[in-house]
Amino acid sequence: MAILVTGSAGFIGANFVLDWLAQNSEAVISLDKLTYAGNAENLESLAGDTRHTFVKGDIGDSGLIAELLEIHQPRAVINFAAESHVDRSILGPEDFIQTNIVGTFRMLEAVRAYHRKLSAEAAEAFRFLHVSTDEVYGSLSPAEPAFTERHQYEPNSPYSASKAASDHLVRAYHHTYGLPVLTTNCSNNYGPYHFPEKLIPLVIHNALAGKPLPIYGDGQQVRDWLYVKDHCSAIRRVLEGGALGETYNVGGWNEKANIDVVHTLCDILDEEQPRDDGHSYRQQITFVKDRPGHDRRYAIDASKLERELGWKPAETFESGIRKTVRWYLSNQHWVDNITSGAYRDWVSKQYQ
Ligand code: NAD
Ligand code: TYD
Repeated sequence: MAILVTGSAGFIGANFVLDWLAQNSEAVISLDKLTYAGNAENLESLAGDTRHTFVKGDIGDSGLIAELLEIHQPRAVINFAAESHVDRSILGPEDFIQTNIVGTFRMLEAVRAYHRKLSAEAAEAFRFLHVSTDEVYGSLSPAEPAFTERHQYEPNSPYSASKAASDHLVRAYHHTYGLPVLTTNCSNNYGPYHFPEKLIPLVIHNALAGKPLPIYGDGQQVRDWLYVKDHCSAIRRVLEGGALGETYNVGGWNEKANIDVVHTLCDILDEEQPRDDGHSYRQQITFVKDRPGHDRRYAIDASKLERELGWKPAETFESGIRKTVRWYLSNQHWVDNITSGAYRDWVSKQYQ
């Protein structure tokens, strides 16, 4: 038995594969295009593990996907592969359309053809799990209740619009073709292997490098944060017990304003690795121009997943964020390796 995981060299995909192989004997076929966000080093600890096969490739390559399905006969596909950074989608949406929409479509087509040829028993057991985001639901005002699975789709950025489109395709392949799909819509993740273009790893990296900590606008935008390993456990749970065609919200019940997240990070760094001059890292906070169309608040109601499948996050924000800071402090070589070259070009384009 095997599963096929796309986007496996990215932040969440890599955490998922590492956790999976730490807990299961079942093999993983890893597929990743290794874009700027994909890092083969994330899976380095699996070198020599015969349960893991890494393939460099594009989810939009129909021939390759068909071949991988044919050769490895996975009992499930978990689709993490995506362009995932809102700011990049604002500067250049094209890749988001290609990977998130066209790529997901090509995956669905290949999986549909594969599924049709499976034995009745294998077809019954097969799952296509699509990993999506809470950003498809749009933005909440402060008093509105958290997003449930029945919230209207109101995506506001090219990123969230492309993810919304992929969610709709996945839904349609279930209703039209009977493909056994599951979709998860998760809130903001944080943890090991997070690329330092996103808020939390960017702030840790800049703080330690003595650089400004850029806060967009007034810093009062709210996100709901989930430790990445809790997202991985939720996906495993949905894969195991989710009802076909259903969507499940995944969240940490941790709504925080951005400025509070950054203060927390500074305070932990002050304890764990104080600045040489004895001042707080908070001194590096700088308010910068806001993101265009910046969503004000996301909040996830994850009660369906708890009620129906018994899933709950294991980490609080306080425990998860401290683990995360410690991981970055002990893995500076990982950060150094990916913050050269193209990363610097991105930072200078985005933050001028
Ligand atoms: P990431 O950007 O860190 O990783 C994405 C991975 O996909 C990279 O390894 C990249 O090389 C790969 N990839 C990109 N285009 C590809 C293509 N055409 N073919 C094959 N591989 C390709 O993203 P992430 O944060 O790990 O997010 C993974 C998934 O989870 C995405 O679908 C994202 O929308 C979703 N998600 C992310 C978050 C979050 O907070 N990061 C929250 C909810 C949902
Ligand atoms: P990000 O990590 O990019 O995730 P998303 O946009 O998918 O929620 O950003 C999290 C929040 O932090 C978001 O409100 C934008 C804000 N932000 C900053 O204030 N400064 C930054 O430099 C970055 C990257 C994000």
